[in-house]
Amino acid sequence: MPDAGKSEKPYAPRPLWYKDAIIYELHVRAFCDGTGDGIGDFRGLIHKLDYIQDLGVTAIWLLPFYPSPLKDDGYDIADYTSIHPSYGTLEDFRTFLEEAHRRGLHVITELVLNHTSDQHPWFQEARSSRNNPRRDWYVWNDTDDRYRGARIIFVDTEKSNWTWDPLSKSYYWHRFFSHQPDLNFDNPQVREAISDVIKFWMEMGVDGMRLDAVPYLVEREGTSCENLPETHEVLKFLRRKLDEQFPAGMFLAEANQWPADVRPYFGDGDECHMAFHFPLMPRIFMAIRLEDRKPIVEILQQTPEIPETCQWAIFLRNHDELTLEMVSDEERDYMYDEYAKDRAMRINVGIRRRLAPMLENDRRKIELMNGLLMSLPGTPAIYYGDEIGMGDNIYLGDRNGVRTPMQWSGGWTGGFSLADPERLYSPVVSNVQYCPQAVNVQSASRSPHSLLSWMKLLIRVRKSTRVFGRGSIEFLSPANHRVLAFVRRLGNETILVVNNLSSSAQAVELDLRNFKGAIPVEMSGGNIFPRIGELPYLLTLGAYQFFWFKLRRI
Ligand code: GLC
Repeated sequence: MPDAGKSEKPYAPRPLWYKDAIIYELHVRAFCDGTGDGIGDFRGLIHKLDYIQDLGVTAIWLLPFYPSPLKDDGYDIADYTSIHPSYGTLEDFRTFLEEAHRRGLHVITELVLNHTSDQHPWFQEARSSRNNPRRDWYVWNDTDDRYRGARIIFVDTEKSNWTWDPLSKSYYWHRFFSHQPDLNFDNPQVREAISDVIKFWMEMGVDGMRLDAVPYLVEREGTSCENLPETHEVLKFLRRKLDEQFPAGMFLAEANQWPADVRPYFGDGDECHMAFHFPLMPRIFMAIRLEDRKPIVEILQQTPEIPETCQWAIFLRNHDELTLEMVSDEERDYMYDEYAKDRAMRINVGIRRRLAPMLENDRRKIELMNGLLMSLPGTPAIYYGDEIGMGDNIYLGDRNGVRTPMQWSGGWTGGFSLADPERLYSPVVSNVQYCPQAVNVQSASRSPHSLLSWMKLLIRVRKSTRVFGRGSIEFLSPANHRVLAFVRRLGNETILVVNNLSSSAQAVELDLRNFKGAIPVEMSGGNIFPRIGELPYLLTLGAYQFFWFKLRRI
C-alpha cells in the first residue's frame, strides 16, 4: 500500500482523492485580511497557505465567498459566479486556487443550491410579476397553508416556511431564513442553471463542492418535504452532468439526517461522493461526558455500509451550532445540561460554542476528541482555529461567536488585520483565557508541546497509512465500558485503537486472540509493546489517554 501523501506529486487530482483527505474548513472573511480593511480576503488567505500546508491537511473547504447581502454569512447568495467584493476578485480566486494546488491542497467550495438570497436577480425577476418567465424558478402560493408537514429549521427566528411578498402579492417558500427563497427544482431550467454553476467552478479547477442543505430541494404535499425521491433524482442529474466532464470532481452532501436517511444520498455511487455524518458528532461529546463508549458504538453500528467509492465526512465542530437534531429528547437535554448551561450558548436546536471552551480547555480531552476524529471511519474535517484551541464569544448573535477572526499573533487584532480593531468585521475573542495574547499561531508554533504542534504530529501519523480513511472497523467489547477499542483494517494492514474516555486512569483487558503473535507498535513514537499472546491483552491508560497501534506480524 503506497504511503499516502509522501510519494505523491504535490498536486494530482485523482479519483477517490477525498477518501484520504484531511479537510480544513475556513471562512475567507475570518482567516486573514490582506488589504487592511478589517475583512479577510483571498489575498490574505494566499499569504497563509503555507501555514495550512504545514499543518498537514490536504483539502481546504471554503465557506461561501460570493456576492451576498451577508444576512446568513454568505449562504444567502446574490450571484453564483463571482466573488464578494470584500474578499477580492475572480482573478484573486484563480490565484488562490493555483497556489493551493501548487501546495498539494484540494479546494472544496460551497454550492448553496436549495435557496438564493432574495437579492438574487433570479428572485427579483420572479417576484416582479406573476407572468415573468422566471416566476416558476421559486415556489409560490396564494396561501400559506401548503406543505404543513415540513418542520421549521431556524426555530429561533422563523415562524413559518412561507413569507408574504407584497410585490407580487403571494407567498414564497423558504426552509431557512425568510430572505432565502427556495429554488423550485421541479423546474428543469433551475436544474440546468445549477448545473451551469457547477461547471463554472469545476472548469476553473475547483476539486469538489459541498452541497448545502440537500434534503430540502423538492416539496410534496403530505410529506415532511425532506429526503424525497424527487430530491434524489435532482442530485443524480447533477452528478451525471459532473461525471461527464469532471470525473475527479466530488460532491459532499450536507444532510443533517439519521444514517439510514443519509445513505440514499450516496445512491449506488451515482449521487454524492461524500456526506457528513451528523449523528456521530454529538455522540462523541456524549461519550466523553458519560465516560462510556456506548453512544459512539451504537451509532456506528447503526450506520449502513456505503458504496466503495463513497466516504463519510466526520467533524467535531463547524461554522454552525453544534446541532442536536439527530439525538433523542433525553440526549438533547443531557447535552444542553452538560455543555450549554448558559442559555446564551444555545441557538435553534443546538449549541453555539467552539471545541476548546466546550471541553473546558482541557488539553487531554481536546487531544482525545481529535484522536477520535482522526481514527474513526471517514474523512475528518477540522474547523479553522480549533487546531490552536481558539475560544468563542457567545454574545455575538446568531452563530457569529464561532466565526471570529483567526488568531495569528498577540495584539489587538490577533494579527488578522492591519486595520484598527474596531473596524474588523467581527471583534476578536477578548476574554482572558482565549484572547490573542493567550491563544495564537505564532506562540503555538514556537512550542513543540503546543496543541498546534501536537495536531501536526497527529495529522502526520494519520497520513502515514490509508487504513484510517479506507479501512473497515470492528469494535472490541472489553468489560471496561470506559474504554473504546476498535480495529481498523485494510488489506494486510491492521491498526488497533484504544481510547480511555474517562477522567481517571483505567486498565482494560482486550481479547486480541485473532491477532496472536502480532507485535503492537505504538504509532506516534514507534515503540514496540509486548507481543500478543493467548491471554487477554492488558493495557493501562491515563485519563483521556489513547493509543494507536500498528499490529506487526512477523
Ligand atoms: C447550511 C449552512 C448554514 C446556513 C444554512 C442556510 O445549513 O451550514 O450555515 O445558515 O445552510 O443556508
